Amino acid sequence: MMLKNKWYIVLSSEEVKRNRITRARRFGIDIVFWRDSKNEVHAIDAKCPHRGANLGLGEIVNDCVQCPYHGFLYDGNGIAVLIPSLGKSAKINPNYMVRSSKVKEFMNFIFMWYDDKNPEEDIKWHEGIDSSYSFSTIKETWEVNYTRPIENQLDVSHLPFVHRTTIGRGNRTLVNGPIVELEGDVLNVWVCNEVDMGQIPKKQNEIEKD
Ligand code: FES
Repeated sequence: MMLKNKWYIVLSSEEVKRNRITRARRFGIDIVFWRDSKNEVHAIDAKCPHRGANLGLGEIVNDCVQCPYHGFLYDGNGIAVLIPSLGKSAKINPNYMVRSSKVKEFMNFIFMWYDDKNPEEDIKWHEGIDSSYSFSTIKETWEVNYTRPIENQLDVSHLPFVHRTTIGRGNRTLVNGPIVELEGDVLNVWVCNEVDMGQIPKKQNEIEKD
């Protein structure tokens, strides 16, 4: 169950290469992604509305996706702009289309707006993390609802056990706080774990934020 009317990261930028269609299943739907000649990313459902062929097996032609079966061309809005059997001069009913999704590229990720309405807000990014930071992306599939990994990120007491050689090194098993603040719909968390020398853990209001 996803929250509706939000931007979600659906792919990393490098997964959508030039001159190649990328197919991915997102929000329970098979979707094809591609870049046009201006390098803008587009996304439409992968099932051709004509006879159900997989558009992921098609090609990029004139910035559109060409269906591999009868060659219909769909643009970034999902509109059929050419039906080859009718000829180039045929006027195509503008309602002949496949569902498109709003996508944006930002900070090396492809974001997709879920659900059907037009985006009502800009992409929210982590305050204080801008393009001067270097980062890399790893990809891993967890067979759980997406709320579980978020909850896992907030669970600071597992760090010295599960991640004892990396982010949890130092045997800091004692959890001060943590400080948790909700600003609008942004949750800020400060982790203040310490080595247990027998001291009483500090409460949120006894810790300095740094
Ligand atoms: S199935 Fe796609 S054009 Fe016919």
